[in-house]
Amino acid sequence: MSGGLVTAAYIVAAILFIFSLAGLSKHETSKQGNIFGVVGMAIALIATIFGPDSSNVGWIIVAMVIGGAIGVYLAKKVEMTEMPELVAVLHSFVGLAAVLVGFNSFIEHQPGSMEHVMENIHLTEVFLGIFIGAVTFTGSIVAFGKLRGTISSKPLMLPSRHKLNLAALVVSFLLMVWFVNTGSTSVQVMCVLLMTIIALAFGWHLVASIGGADMPVVVSMLNSYSGWAAAAAGFMLSNDLLIVTGALVGSSGAILSYIMCKAMNRSFFSVIAGGFGTDGSSTGEDQEMGEYRETTAEEVAEQLKGSSSVIITPGYGMAVAQAQYPVAEITAKLRAMGVKVRFGIHPVAGRLPGHMNVLLAEAKVPYDIVLEMDEINDDFADTDTVLVIGANDTVNPAAMEDPRSPIAGMPVLEVWKAQNVIVFKRSMNTGYAGVQNPLFFKDNTQMLFGDAKASVEAILRAL
Ligand code: TAP
Repeated sequence: MSGGLVTAAYIVAAILFIFSLAGLSKHETSKQGNIFGVVGMAIALIATIFGPDSSNVGWIIVAMVIGGAIGVYLAKKVEMTEMPELVAVLHSFVGLAAVLVGFNSFIEHQPGSMEHVMENIHLTEVFLGIFIGAVTFTGSIVAFGKLRGTISSKPLMLPSRHKLNLAALVVSFLLMVWFVNTGSTSVQVMCVLLMTIIALAFGWHLVASIGGADMPVVVSMLNSYSGWAAAAAGFMLSNDLLIVTGALVGSSGAILSYIMCKAMNRSFFSVIAGGFGTDGSSTGEDQEMGEYRETTAEEVAEQLKGSSSVIITPGYGMAVAQAQYPVAEITAKLRAMGVKVRFGIHPVAGRLPGHMNVLLAEAKVPYDIVLEMDEINDDFADTDTVLVIGANDTVNPAAMEDPRSPIAGMPVLEVWKAQNVIVFKRSMNTGYAGVQNPLFFKDNTQMLFGDAKASVEAILRAL
């Protein structure tokens, strides 16, 4: 394939990636957006593999077949609830790839083979690429552990943690200046190895010090970092498409982080500096909350029959129980009975941005009754019954009422304003942020204990 053809293919692929992002931003066009992305990536791969800069195509294909087979196997096996972990671990691969590309570019580089200025630029690219890649690599591994539950979701609070972060950045910067300006290869090797160790520790610490309800920002932040790591690799390999794609992922991840921060009423810098809601905060575990009331599926079915408006607020528990299908059936049944049913989706419900929307779309719930938190929050007061299906932190009134709560200030779905609230969960356990929920003890709340899927199916039968 000639260089001109490769450039043309890259332009087409880049445009398809932009269409893909645009498509993915709306439910109705998300499938189409996905297809644009797949086609763009196929064109990009073919053009790169068969382009003039590639050699040993046989080896590349063998590696792709092995990697692709592992990818297909894992993608088929992974449960919907494990998706966030999968995404986190995939980000770590991007980081690792950028580190390896950086080392490779450094080893391959012949000192003196370029003009002085170009050489400095190249060395800076290599250094920054390895730095961003290493931060993304360990940061994503910690995020993977936290989402999987193998690492505690509590923020790690090292003394002087901000100073440690600052020191890591300053020392890395000084090493970069030394790396670029020294003529000695052995000094360069030392600088790059030292920086890699610092960057690995920095990435680890950065994510370890964020926890609880702030994890959504970490997920989107690492999404962004993985994009910048890919862009850095693009600079090192002089591959324009990788630069464009990396920049698209990096900036869309940054926008997503901003949206997540807004949804949680946090400032981005406070979250990435770590340690929100930890000093002097109360999880409410030690407070006397009062009595809670239990109900049965039959009673809930009667209550639903007598309601004229119902709002369903799903959360992570719906994903765990895979209750979206019976939830969709109950919705259809109630709507057929003339009840107005809508869904209220909190921006950080579940464990992935858009988690609930994906589940509801999978179960074919009509898009027009699935509303964002801001669109529905004022309507709870005029609602007869709210079904809280496997949600906890996202419907916790402590966020608004208790300034000492770790989730204080986070906007929540104000479900308690409705006439009746039914909470579907298995026990009185806390949600992801580990905070007790006063909603369960309110006079208008009743608990329906059990697996959400079994409970919804029982209500469906009773209806
Ligand atoms: P959570 O606060 O995590 O609560 C989920 C609830 O579901 C739990 O209290 C659990 O109670 C219940 N549950 C679990 N399995 C169940 C089952 N099989 N049947 C019935 N109930 C079940 O959920 P949420 O309201 O969706 O809030 C999300 C939280 O995750 C927020 O703190 C958010 O910051 C965090 N987070 C979000 C993301 C993104 S990007 N969305 C990423 C990382 C973290 P039982 O154990 O008693 O059943």
